[in-house]
Amino acid sequence: MENKIKWGVIGSGGIAQRRTIPEGIVLAEHANLVAVYDINAEVNYTVAKKFNAKAVQSIQELIDADIDAVYIASPVNRHLEHAIACAKGKKHVFCEKPLGMTVEEAEKMIRICKQEGVLLGTALMMRFLAQHQAALKIIQEGKLGKLVYGRAQLSCWYPPIEGAWRQDPTVSGGGSLMDMGSHCIDLLEMFFGKVKSVSCFINNTVHSYKSEDSSVVSLLFENGALATVDSCFSIPDNSSKNILELYGSKGSILAKDTIGQGAAGEMIAYLEDDDTGYDANQVRTACEGVIINPTPVNTYLAEIEEFSCAILEKREPLNNAAIGLESQKILAACYLSAKTGKTVDV
Ligand SMILES: NC(=O)c1ccc[n+]([C@@H]2O[C@H](COP(=O)([O-])OP(=O)(O)OC[C@H]3O[C@@H](n4cnc5c(N)ncnc54)[C@H](O)[C@@H]3O)[C@@H](O)[C@H]2O)c1
Repeated sequence: MENKIKWGVIGSGGIAQRRTIPEGIVLAEHANLVAVYDINAEVNYTVAKKFNAKAVQSIQELIDADIDAVYIASPVNRHLEHAIACAKGKKHVFCEKPLGMTVEEAEKMIRICKQEGVLLGTALMMRFLAQHQAALKIIQEGKLGKLVYGRAQLSCWYPPIEGAWRQDPTVSGGGSLMDMGSHCIDLLEMFFGKVKSVSCFINNTVHSYKSEDSSVVSLLFENGALATVDSCFSIPDNSSKNILELYGSKGSILAKDTIGQGAAGEMIAYLEDDDTGYDANQVRTACEGVIINPTPVNTYLAEIEEFSCAILEKREPLNNAAIGLESQKILAACYLSAKTGKTVDV
């Protein structure tokens, strides 16, 4: 096999043309963009021209093109049919988050890809951010002590827009929680391990479209750690700093703007090596934090490179279907909790 995976794209007109094609598929060492498809032929033609790819008119034509893998970036309610068509055409499938509308859809995608002998991956790309990987290393080395509490936030301003599919849960599966909270929950799972149960509120605080514009989730992890995730479509972009806070019995890691589409933000670790004992006066000495500032990693490049290499090396990718399914199960538990007012086990 050549050392480059030949890629096709479904839904070329959105995040694909903004980020994943130019920063990922075009630049990745082990990837080549071959053909693109979008239901909007005009947009598709423009994308094809810009990135020197073939514009195809149908999913079948894409499958028949000389490709090895497909990146699916269509609206969520199309992911299942697109993934099945590609798998049956023996193409590896790299699908945007969330994998499907429901847990059952995600499970079906996994089953069919397995049957057809192709890989299925999930584009939860924020795991690859260099600062997130550095934080994970600190945690794995035990420097944070026993994990206690985390907070992850991703919010933006998303006003009502005619025809916006995210604002219709029958197309998106959900609003701010499904779209952005999913990244936060996934990151916290990477840091803290498996979620045991959740309690969730969703609301339409500002906008009146059908999917939620505000959400808060409380999470209990299997290791006893706790966390909250807040993600809203109802806070101005500049007012949300997309905070990540990870606390343990020996310190904390505090970050601003590492969660998101960029390649870096600000992250500081406050680590206490010694057991200082209990201080009834709670005197806080000026403990200088350590700035966590590794060489930035473009997350779109990293996700495409990882999935391409996994195909070439015939191995499971890090961004595999299991993390997508896990995310989907937690999201389903969150929405059930919001509906019933009860805590739900994942
Ligand atoms: N990881 C990230 O950074 C990130 C960012 C944005 C979106 N996403 C995910 O990417 C996916 C797409 O989101 P988006 O923001 O790009 O949406 P978008 O609406 O901007 O773009 C989707 C594209 O798919 C096309 N499309 C619609 N129906 C189609 C169909 N049946 N067949 C083929 N093409 C079709 C549209 O014409 C459009 O060009 C979603 O799953 C979303 O959650 C991920």
